[in-house]
Amino acid sequence: MNAAPIGVFDSGIGGLTVVHALRARLPGESIIYVGDTARVPWGPKSPDTVRRYAGEIAGWLVGQGVKVVVVACNTATAHALPHLRESLRLPVIGVVEPGARAAVREDHDGHIGVIGTAGTIASGAYERAIRALAPAVTITARACPLFVPLVEEGWLDGEVTRLVATRYLQPLRDDHVDVVVLGCTHYPLLKPVLRGILGVGVALIDSAEETAAETARVLRASGIEAPPGGRGELRCAVTDAPDAFLRQAVRFLGEPLERVETIAVG
Ligand code: DGL
Repeated sequence: MNAAPIGVFDSGIGGLTVVHALRARLPGESIIYVGDTARVPWGPKSPDTVRRYAGEIAGWLVGQGVKVVVVACNTATAHALPHLRESLRLPVIGVVEPGARAAVREDHDGHIGVIGTAGTIASGAYERAIRALAPAVTITARACPLFVPLVEEGWLDGEVTRLVATRYLQPLRDDHVDVVVLGCTHYPLLKPVLRGILGVGVALIDSAEETAAETARVLRASGIEAPPGGRGELRCAVTDAPDAFLRQAVRFLGEPLERVETIAVG
C-alpha cells in the first residue's frame, strides 16, 4: 500500500481525459496533474524539445513525491518515454503501448489506422508498438494537426470540424481500416464526428481508458495501491493561463475543477 499520489502530465489540458479515466477506474488514488500550458502545443515541436519539456515536468512531479508518473500526452510518450524510464527511479507509464495493445485486440481484418499529432505520427511510435504485437498487420497513419485547435475552441461538431475530419480520414477509409487509434489526448472528444465519418463498424481506441487500466495493473503488480476506503484527491497545476484552463477543464475532465495552481518549471 502507498498513499502517495499518481503524477500525470500533458502538454496542456488534453491529458485531463486520462485523469478522467484514472478517477473512474481508481477512485481511491490521489492525483497531481501538470499541464504545460505555457509551452503547449508539443505536437509540432522537435523530439529534443519535447524530451526536455517532459523531463522538466516529470522532475517537478517526482519532487512532489508521486509514486508513478503517467505520461498522458501521446507526443511526449512518442518522443520521451524511454528517456524518462531511464532517468526516473519509479514506474513510468505512457499512452502508446496501452493504445497499441487495445488496437491489436480489437482488430479482425489486419488493418489498423492511427491518428495523432505531427510529432507522434512522424515518430512512428504507434507503428512500432503495434508491429511488436502483430508483425503482419497493415497500418495507415495520418497526422491531424488541426484537430487540437478545433477541440480547444470547443468545435466538437459542426460543418468545419466534419470537413476537416473527412479530409484527414479519407486515407483510412480508402484502406478500409477496421480499428482507429485515437493517438492524441484531444481526439476522444471528437468521437461522434469520427464515428459519423468512419462508420459504426470501425472501433475507435481511446488511449485514456487503456492507460488507466495499465496504471491499475502497474500499481497492483508493484504493491503500491492506495489504502482502501478513501476518496482520492485531485490537485492540478499549470505553467501559465490558469483561468483559461479552469474554464475548459470540465469538458476534458467530466467534472468541474475548482482551483488550479500556477507553477514554474524549466
Ligand atoms: N497532448 C498532445 C498529444 O496527445 C496534443 C496537444 C499538443 O500538441 O500539445 O499528443
